[in-house]
Amino acid sequence: MKMNKSLNLTENRDAKLIEDILCLKRQRKTIILAHNYQLGEVQDIADFVGDSLELSQKAAKTDADVIVFCGVHFMAETASILCPDKVVLLPDIHAGCPMADMITAEGLRERKRELPGAIVVCYINSSAEVKAESDVCCTSANAVKVIESLDAEEILFVPDQYLGHYISTKTDKRISPWPGFCPTHIRIQPEHVTRLKQEYPQAKVVVHPECRPDVIVLANEVLSTGGLCRYANRTEVKEMIVGTEIGIIHRLRKENPGKKFIPASEQAICPRMKLITLENILWSLEEMAPEVKIPEKIRLKAKAAVDKMLEIGRG
Ligand code: 13P
Ligand code: SF4
Repeated sequence: MKMNKSLNLTENRDAKLIEDILCLKRQRKTIILAHNYQLGEVQDIADFVGDSLELSQKAAKTDADVIVFCGVHFMAETASILCPDKVVLLPDIHAGCPMADMITAEGLRERKRELPGAIVVCYINSSAEVKAESDVCCTSANAVKVIESLDAEEILFVPDQYLGHYISTKTDKRISPWPGFCPTHIRIQPEHVTRLKQEYPQAKVVVHPECRPDVIVLANEVLSTGGLCRYANRTEVKEMIVGTEIGIIHRLRKENPGKKFIPASEQAICPRMKLITLENILWSLEEMAPEVKIPEKIRLKAKAAVDKMLEIGRG
C-alpha cells in the first residue's frame, strides 16, 4: 500500500516535470536530442534519440533556436561546432566522456611531431581542441569508411585504442592508435559473453567497437549504437546479447516488444551519461544554462574535420 502511494507520487512528479519541459521547449523553439545511452525517461521526452553520427547530422540540419543535448560534453560540443548561432545546452556540465579526456591537444601535437607523415583521424569522442588538431573525424558508425576514403597509408588514430584495433582488422592501412579506452566498455569481459552464449544459444551477439578485441572476436556483429538498434529491428533477430552500455536496452525493448535483449554485462554503465535527468533538463531550459560554446578559431578548424566526416556519411 505504502509502495503504491510513493509510486504515484513519483509518477505525478515526473508528469509535472515533463509538462513543464514541453511547455518551455515550445516557448524557446527547442529541439531535445538524446543519445541511446540516456536514462529511459530522458529518451522518452526527446525529439530524437540516436548515435553520435545521427545526433550530429540532426544538429546540423535543425531549424530550432536552442538544442538541449542529453548526452556527454563532446556531443554538445559537436553540435555547437556545427551550429554556432544556436544555443547548445548540456543540462549537467560535468557530463564528460572519460575517454575523450585521455588526450589533450598538446599531447596530440607532440605525437604528430613523432609521426610527421601520418594523417590524423579522431574519434568523435574527443574535445573540440583535439578535433581542431585532426585531419578528419569519425564515429563508430563510419570509422572504417572514413579511413578507407583517405589517400594515405599511415594513420594516427585517437583516442580509442580498441576502435583503432578494430579498424586495423578491416583495412590494410597502418594504424597507430592512441592508448585511450572507454572505462565502461572494458567492463564487458569475454567470459560474460561466453557464459551468455551457452545460456542463450539462439541469441545474436552484437557488440560496440569500443569493446576489447577478445570480446569483439566473439560477436556476430560489431556496430555503432544506431547500427545495433537497426539490427535488432530485423525480423530474424529474436534474442540478442548486447555488448554495450545498458541504457540502450530501454530503446531496444521499446521498439521490439516480444524480443529478448540480454546485457552482456550489467556493469556496463556510463555514469556520466546518467547525469542528465528530467530535473536538470527543466532547470537548464529555465536558466538557459549551462551553454556549450567553442572559441571561433578552434571551432573553424574542428568544423573542417567534422564536415569531412559528414560528407562521407554512414559506413
Ligand atoms: P555511438 O556513436 O555508437 O552512439 O557511440 C558513442 C559512445 O560514446 C559509445 O560509448
Ligand atoms: Fe565515453 Fe564510454 Fe561513456 Fe561512451 S560509454 S560516453 S565512450 S565513457
